[in-house]
Amino acid sequence: MSNTVESLPANWYYDEAVFRREQKNIFEKNWTFIIDGAEVAKPGQFVTATITNQFIVIVRTLQGELKGFLNLCRHRASTICTEDNGSLTQFTCPYHAWSYDLNGRLKNAPGFKMGEQVTPEKFSLIPVKVDIWNGLVFACLDRECASLESWLGDIVRISENYPTISEMTFEAMRSNEGSINWKNYSDNSAEGYHLPTIHPGLNAALVSKQTRIAAYENGKFVGFEVVYKDRSQDGSSGFWIYKFPGMLLHFSMNSFNIERVIPIGPQTTVMQRWFWFKPSIDKPQRKQAIEFSSQVMKEDIGICTRVQKNLEGGVYQTGLLSMQQEPGAIFFQQCVKEALR
Ligand code: FES
Ligand SMILES: [Fe+2]
Repeated sequence: MSNTVESLPANWYYDEAVFRREQKNIFEKNWTFIIDGAEVAKPGQFVTATITNQFIVIVRTLQGELKGFLNLCRHRASTICTEDNGSLTQFTCPYHAWSYDLNGRLKNAPGFKMGEQVTPEKFSLIPVKVDIWNGLVFACLDRECASLESWLGDIVRISENYPTISEMTFEAMRSNEGSINWKNYSDNSAEGYHLPTIHPGLNAALVSKQTRIAAYENGKFVGFEVVYKDRSQDGSSGFWIYKFPGMLLHFSMNSFNIERVIPIGPQTTVMQRWFWFKPSIDKPQRKQAIEFSSQVMKEDIGICTRVQKNLEGGVYQTGLLSMQQEPGAIFFQQCVKEALR
């Protein structure tokens, strides 16, 4: 078997048509992390979000169930919720005041006679799949998708070696935007080959000989088992994950963070990171850990931006990935190819 694999064609990293297919075939077919479950713990609490260009709303019903819907009024397509979050007892569309209960059922269409044409059967909100894992809320636009647990695959088992979210406190969320294609960022996140060159600080914090990188078919992710030199900071070992298509997880004995990679356009991507820490980790340590993560993010966006410009330059068409050095990037690109086939 060959030791190298040809990388994805350069135009996949800026082409509009490829981007639209990825949105439909990849991001609308997979689960997406949305929010900390604490934000929708009480009856009536809701949050709004987007997956690709679809608006969604997630709500805790008055009966205590978690539900998801397209944030889409069945009358003339307004969003029914315009706030990021809040609490309510029913949805009332801001446009012409059609209302829906928190189970999504049409209640009232002012000025229309409820009956033959306007019925809850025809005009209720369109459901979206939602589920919770480790206190985190996920949603999926594909009604036929596998359960969240089977989508996570081996991640569920690996996470059991680390503290749960419920044993930690939420500290902060950070958002960064890059003029890069999401796959450019993912290629980079799925390999450790660039660690010594691009991240000297992070590299120095790890016992490099003990880093193990493997592709996990059950769950379609790349796992990095790492050992930290400073045991007091991160409690020795950690597990980093790049989960296809766009989720990163960092488990350690003292902290947890999750990152969502959000493709905005073929040449624009937003990375959102949420941080939790064990109560024993004090404020200055938390601040330091988040700053450290932000430095790594800055380094990654920096190199990916340079790569992006050359991918768009028209000279480079395709390159080479090494089975030894970049198995995670090979695995990631295979997942992309399969999804677009
Ligand atoms: S669009 Fe919602 S009530 Fe008209
Ligand atoms: Fe990196």
